[in-house]
Amino acid sequence: MLSETILADTTIRRLWRSDLSDVVDHFLRLDTETRRLRFGVALKDCALRRYAERVLDFDSVVYGAFPGGQLRGVAELRGFLGQWPPSAEAALSVEREWQNAGLGDALFSRLIAAAQNRSIRTLHMVCLRENGRMQHLARKHEAVLQYTDGDVEATIDPPRATLSSLTEEIIGESRGFARTLLHLPSSA
Ligand SMILES: CC(C)(COP(=O)(O)OP(=O)(O)OC[C@H]1O[C@@H](n2cnc3c(N)ncnc32)[C@H](O)[C@@H]1OP(=O)(O)O)[C@@H](O)C(=O)NCCC(=O)NCCS
Repeated sequence: MLSETILADTTIRRLWRSDLSDVVDHFLRLDTETRRLRFGVALKDCALRRYAERVLDFDSVVYGAFPGGQLRGVAELRGFLGQWPPSAEAALSVEREWQNAGLGDALFSRLIAAAQNRSIRTLHMVCLRENGRMQHLARKHEAVLQYTDGDVEATIDPPRATLSSLTEEIIGESRGFARTLLHLPSSA
C-alpha cells in the first residue's frame, strides 16, 4: 500500500491505561531486528512484556499510530517529571510491515509538539549508529547528532509552547478520540 494511503487511514492519538493490552501486543509483534534497533538488543518476549506493561506509567506521555484502526506504532516521551531544566527521553517503534510509510515521522511530530506543550527544553533520543532511518528522521526534526562508538545521541530543543501548539494538541486528541469511539476512517 502507498504511504499516502496508509497515512490517510491512520489515527494518531494519546495512549492511556485502557490501551495497555494493545500496547503489549504491539511490542510483542516487533520482529528481532526492530527489537534490536529499538532497545539496542533483541529483547526476548518475557523482558519485552515487562517493559511494555510499564510504558504507560505516570511520568510518560505516549502516542499510538493506528493505521486501519490497529495499533502499529508507539512513540514514548519519558522521564520529564522532576527534571530541571525540564528534559525528556523519546523512543519510537513501528512494526516491520508498517515501517517506511510515514508513521514514525507522524508520531515523532506529535511527540515534539507534546514536549513543546509541556515546556520541555531538551529532548534526548539514543539509537544505534547503523540506524540510518532514525537518524534521518531526527535530522529532519532539527536534532543535533552526537556520535559515540556504537550509538548516536540525538538532541532536540523544542520551541516554546504557543496558543496554536496547545490548540493543535487538544483538537488532535478530540478528533482521535471521536474517530475511535465512532469507528470513523481517519480521513473523515
Ligand atoms: C525508526 C522508525 C521508528 C521510523 O519509523 P518509520 O515509520 O519507519 O519512518 P517513516 O516512514 O516515517 O520515515 C522514514 C524516513 O527515513 C528515510 N529512510 C528510510 N531508510 C533510510 C535509511 N536507511 N537511511 C536514511 N534514511 C532512511 C525515508 O526515506 C523517510 O524519509 P522522509 O520522511 O524524508 O521521506 C521505525 O523504522 C522503527 O520502528 N525502527 C525500529 C526501531 C527503531 O529504530 N527505533 C528508534 C530507536 S528509539
